[in-house]
Amino acid sequence: TAAQSPSGATKPSANSPQTQAPVRTQRFDAVVIGAGAAGLFCAAQAGALGLRVLVIDHAKRLAEKIRISGGGRCNFTNRDLDVRQPQHHFVSDNAQFCRSALSRFTPQHFIALLQQHGIAFHEKHKGQLFCDHSAQDVIGMLLQLCKEANVDIWHPCEVESIWRSDRSQAEGESADAPATPAPFYLRTSQGQVQAGALVIATGGLSIPKIGASDFGYRIAKQFELPLIARRPGLVPLTFAPQDWAAFVALAGLALPVEIATGQGKQAMRFKEDLLFTHRGLSGPAILQISNYWKVGAPLQINLLPELDHVLDELLQAKRTSKRLLSNVLAQWLPTRLVDTMVAQRTEWQRPIDQVPDKALAALAEQLQAWQITPSGTEGYAKAEVTLGGVDTRALSSKTMESQQHPGLYFIGEVVDVTGWLGGYNFQWAWASGHACATAM
Ligand code: FDA
Repeated sequence: TAAQSPSGATKPSANSPQTQAPVRTQRFDAVVIGAGAAGLFCAAQAGALGLRVLVIDHAKRLAEKIRISGGGRCNFTNRDLDVRQPQHHFVSDNAQFCRSALSRFTPQHFIALLQQHGIAFHEKHKGQLFCDHSAQDVIGMLLQLCKEANVDIWHPCEVESIWRSDRSQAEGESADAPATPAPFYLRTSQGQVQAGALVIATGGLSIPKIGASDFGYRIAKQFELPLIARRPGLVPLTFAPQDWAAFVALAGLALPVEIATGQGKQAMRFKEDLLFTHRGLSGPAILQISNYWKVGAPLQINLLPELDHVLDELLQAKRTSKRLLSNVLAQWLPTRLVDTMVAQRTEWQRPIDQVPDKALAALAEQLQAWQITPSGTEGYAKAEVTLGGVDTRALSSKTMESQQHPGLYFIGEVVDVTGWLGGYNFQWAWASGHACATAM
């Protein structure tokens, strides 16, 4: 048999270690691939529980995503996560899967850990907790926990191939020892490694320039685990140039809105800030809705979410004022946006008392139920996360272990569990890492 290695090279056997030349194999209880949020946290805890753990990462600098997260201050969790209904803040093809891990390792557990390490933090908005000083505090804490737990970290180190012994006993173990699952072997750029447990924590595809790769998905395929289709999440949305031409001049403008997509029970709605960009829309409102937006579907935006009935307000103003309609609107909206809106129709460029009721109704609709259809997203270069990933139906929700391959675990973003903006993705990394560490 031949197994495809993650680097694409064909290796001689899926089930037996390479034997051409005597190779010194270093043994660990667990090897974690990926020294990001989930991998470092999992390794530190498994090490603290007495396992001999090795972490491997191909990047020169570890945990780069933590470093750049939250504008450099790392939004490490969210106090509003309802541990009875955690799935409300996560997207997955299998909505209930994340419940078990998230309810066993909660935001309060991570907060307590930061407090023990004297890391100061503050709440910014809707339960989002950020470091006062720097994301580096979280990285420093994770590395210190790994050090205290005697975790080895190899980086930069490439994993060239992974295979599993077809024997139920590792080399050198007594035949009388109780049967253990066949160990994993890894050929790496720093030598060959053997471990009873293999944890894949290589994250998603976003921001390839700081080390993101599809490694985890390739390992899932190698071991025949199903995958849910991947797409960029928490990502700015773009529009066809001809649809966007009128709004290009608004780039940089931000305002609070209510945004929705989907129909009926599937509809999702967020009240957040919207940001105009040269190519489309961004800001928290768009990042949140992007996790739910389907290609071809329109977005509905209420640019005046604090006003109940703009039309009533406009009709009232028409009765009592002779001001230009744009001046009336300027009391509620930024002038740049007002100018762009009224430029779309000559009737809207008149004093309000000369604007027909029908034209005011059309304007009210444009302001409170603006329908626009994005043409796409800014892609993985700008996405904060990857939606989809390893199908959770192939994993245990208690341990993150593959149902088919005992000893093989997937944690963090590589799994088909994606959080809302606001610290939920790191909470998933900590919680899934914890579930795995305590099970190995
Ligand atoms: P993570 O990406 O952290 O780590 C994966 C590790 O695997 C990396 O170290 C990588 O080098 C390594 N790796 C990849 N391929 C490999 C290979 N072939 N061999 C060896 N190693 C390999 N979330 C949140 O909750 N709050 C926030 O404030 C933010 N902010 C934010 C900002 C930006 C700009 C981005 C891009 C993302 C965020 N996120 C976030 C999302 C959050 O960063 C993300 O969900 C977690 O880091 C996921 O943790 P993981 O450990 O799963 O992957």
